Amino acid sequence: MNRAIVFIFGIFISTITWGQNKSEIAIVPQPVKVTQKAGYFTLPQNITIQAPSVPELEQTLAVLQKKLSLPTGKKITVSTLAPAPVIKLELNKTSDTMLGNEGYRLLVTPKNIIITANKPAGIFYGVQTLQQLFPKEIESNEKVSGVSWKAPCVEITDYPRFGWRGLMFDVARHFFTKEEVKAYIDQMAKYKLNLLHLHLADDEGWRIEIRSLPRLTEIGAWRPYRVGQFGTFPVPTPDEPKDYGGFYTHEDIRELVQYARDRFVNIMPEVDVPGHSLAAIAAYPELSCSGGVGNIGVSAGEPIKDWSTHTAIYDDNLCPSNEKVYEFLDKVMTEIASLFPFEYIHVGGDETFKTFWKSSDAITQLMKRENLKTYEEVQGYFERRLEKIVEAKGKKFIGWDEILEGGIGPTAAVMSWRGSRDGVVSEGATANLNGGEVAAKAGHYVVMSPTEYAYLDYMQSDRIMEPHVYASLRLSKTYSFNPMPASLTKEEQKFVLGAQGNLWTEQVFTFRQAEYMTWPRAFAIAENTWSPNENKNWDDFVRRIEAQFERFDVEEVKYAPSMYDPEFIVSKTSDGELKIGLKNEVNGLDIYYSFDNSYPDRFYPKYEQPLSVPKFATQLKVITYRGKKPIGRMISMPISELKSRVK
Ligand code: ACM
Repeated sequence: MNRAIVFIFGIFISTITWGQNKSEIAIVPQPVKVTQKAGYFTLPQNITIQAPSVPELEQTLAVLQKKLSLPTGKKITVSTLAPAPVIKLELNKTSDTMLGNEGYRLLVTPKNIIITANKPAGIFYGVQTLQQLFPKEIESNEKVSGVSWKAPCVEITDYPRFGWRGLMFDVARHFFTKEEVKAYIDQMAKYKLNLLHLHLADDEGWRIEIRSLPRLTEIGAWRPYRVGQFGTFPVPTPDEPKDYGGFYTHEDIRELVQYARDRFVNIMPEVDVPGHSLAAIAAYPELSCSGGVGNIGVSAGEPIKDWSTHTAIYDDNLCPSNEKVYEFLDKVMTEIASLFPFEYIHVGGDETFKTFWKSSDAITQLMKRENLKTYEEVQGYFERRLEKIVEAKGKKFIGWDEILEGGIGPTAAVMSWRGSRDGVVSEGATANLNGGEVAAKAGHYVVMSPTEYAYLDYMQSDRIMEPHVYASLRLSKTYSFNPMPASLTKEEQKFVLGAQGNLWTEQVFTFRQAEYMTWPRAFAIAENTWSPNENKNWDDFVRRIEAQFERFDVEEVKYAPSMYDPEFIVSKTSDGELKIGLKNEVNGLDIYYSFDNSYPDRFYPKYEQPLSVPKFATQLKVITYRGKKPIGRMISMPISELKSRVK
């Protein structure tokens, strides 16, 4: 469909769903059905909330009470039975089958508010939606005066498209504290994301206490501090202080698991093996085939792999032929299984470059003994043994899609990250199917998190505006992600559990930057996994997330304004002249520009068509406006940079 037809179709859908006053309601993720009614509900001075007395809702009620009283100064009473409650939260006595376990109905009338659901999770999600109907100041952590605390009357029916609506947070490359992880959970739960995948071990750090293997956190959790361009740093010297890092104790993990549960979020732990294991090898060098020869300790962001040739510079693999490795993994999985109630344990499996296996006599012998023909089959042998360990702890096994390459057990699940990146089918993908499609077709459960739509570590706008990462992913692209591949039959579709965005943190040095990288793209992930695909409408999504930006401003959560940065499209005319095209991601914005090194505003030339560069100009400066209001960042683009981009 061309853009104009999509646009008209979009308006049609949003009109029939939203009625006349749709612009007032800006819920993310978009509910299944919203019908706005005449009038408003206004919070009275004394608010009675009637709610069922179930432990799962204690936290929901505590947050609701705080939100409705702290900024408003109003008085809240909660009881299980109130004569005329202002807000009534009700669990259905007979199940409302349409709603499932997480759905809800929300009714706002001028007199009161009623949320009904089958399960406490549904009540929680109804409360999240309700919060977004009130003015943004409801997000304030201090009293705000002069606000009319009203919500539009509305009838909402809502339930999720997928059960797995996740974000992965890499706490290994850079460590994030328990309080920061809690803040991340708070933010994701508000947008009905329900799965936090914690990437707990990698070359740059081991982040979870394993009491039977104390060196993992005595040694593996610490490295020298480096700041700058991660991946280019020098190898740590033996005498350098290794004082940057940290880990979560068992008590910390229990606290985080409970904190997440109270917000209807599951935490899935990942220990990435057999590759990405330098931190474990720093602690226990005997776990690698090379026995720690050239062991450089925990990586501090130096090049440890050659990505162009897929070879390892330093050995960061556990050794599949070493029985001690399986004893080690048994101990790790015993403690992890006892700490995380979630049904799956993620075991990594990605990017295991086999360089050091190829020169190992022990691996050659293993291949002979087990009749393994390729090094992928060596990894397959490792994965099947690990799968047995994980299952023996009463857990299900999930790994990155590389685990498919060497053969996996029938009950293993796959997290699909490789697909056709920038139109090129990646290594390991079959024809035009990505790992997720291959897995679902083979009857494995899958979670979709493809690089091309869901990698939250990628740059969000032009590379001169963002900390440098090797690839870009704009918000509109993430928004266009449909986790359900068209290639799957109805039967195969049942294997798609859902999707998640992945925040790798090589270039994320602070929690503020983690927020910046996550939002707004995680709004798109929330919508892709919660809302009906057929209701998608980019312009309306932008309108609604801009309302969320205002809420984040009140809460002081950081987000990226990158969607307001135009894209630079360069070409050369037949006589060698550089032409610069500018394209806005958000519709309805104007771009003003200068070539004279001064900062443009809306009294400068407006971009209308591809630009020619004045003979002696060295810089193009651009800024986007909405009407009279500057909305984008000031971008200073060197002409030499644009020239270098012409193919
Ligand atoms: C991955 O991005 N290596 C899973």
